Amino acid sequence: MSSYHNPVMLAECIDGLNIDPEGTYVDVTFGGGGHSLAIMEKLKGGKLIAFDQDEDAKKEAEKIQHRSFTFCQANFRYMKQYLKLQGASKVNGILADLGISSHQIDEASRGFSTRFDGPLDMRMDRKAKATAAKILNSYTEEQLHKIFGMYGELKNAKTAAKAVVTNRSKKPLATTLDLKTALQSVAPRGKENKYFAQVFQALRIEVNAEMQALEDFLHQSGEVMEKGGRLVVMSYHSLEDRLVKNYINTGKMFGEVEKDFFGNKVKPFEAVNRKPIEASVEEIEQNSRARSAKLRVAEKI
Ligand SMILES: C[S@@+](CC[C@H](N)C(=O)[O-])C[C@H]1O[C@@H](n2cnc3c(N)ncnc32)[C@H](O)[C@@H]1O
Repeated sequence: MSSYHNPVMLAECIDGLNIDPEGTYVDVTFGGGGHSLAIMEKLKGGKLIAFDQDEDAKKEAEKIQHRSFTFCQANFRYMKQYLKLQGASKVNGILADLGISSHQIDEASRGFSTRFDGPLDMRMDRKAKATAAKILNSYTEEQLHKIFGMYGELKNAKTAAKAVVTNRSKKPLATTLDLKTALQSVAPRGKENKYFAQVFQALRIEVNAEMQALEDFLHQSGEVMEKGGRLVVMSYHSLEDRLVKNYINTGKMFGEVEKDFFGNKVKPFEAVNRKPIEASVEEIEQNSRARSAKLRVAEKI
């Protein structure tokens, strides 16, 4: 087990990929490489192309020196382009283990955690322009209301947005403690930790344009996958899981399902498991992060 990140549902993900030792595989969320290493162990003649937009993950990837392994420090929303550059326009399996790693959460300087005081940063890619501080200090009250409601599922999103705007007019918010102090009076008594976690989740999703990146990635996964290839996606909150489920079941993230002349749904994948796979009780006991994980596996048709 790496101290960088303890991979969630490792065996289930590898089973889901149904690896052909000579095939080409993609891990779009390398992190500490736990899943990537397990994929590589199954390859014989095949190759693995991994992505992560975080500089720290790149340093972890540099520890792997193997002919069958390539790392791209890039956002997975550009997967198709990068695969083409690698001469892999078609692949046999793709894994996405969404969200952030334990390493990112545990580094106070990244600003992802409600547990430590740190700068309001929350960028996975530290070259990106928008930080959480920028969003909190420049978005209108309506924009903040929208992201707190949509991405944090806060019941009092409007009140929270107003509290941020009132507080920032006295002094711009700079640290995670500033944000928690600004929201202290509007957080439900006794449930502050859960409330702050929802606020931080909302900001993180906005800072990293996570929903947009996931949409782009899912579309491209259908385009680059060989027939019979597997898409394996692990999500940690309902918004992501809903998008993945819709895409697998209908070929669309939202709205109307497209049908062909015979009334069949036009979609690139067929679900392998109808219900999402969840971690075992034993795994959750050892790794609390596994509690919210939902794994979906689909096969290209
Ligand atoms: C949950 S961790 C993956 C952990 C990994 N499976 C392991 O076993 O170590 C998610 C990783 O994906 C990266 N990531 C999230 N969204 C991304 C995106 N849109 N493009 C590239 N990397 C992304 C994060 O930087 C983070 O390192």
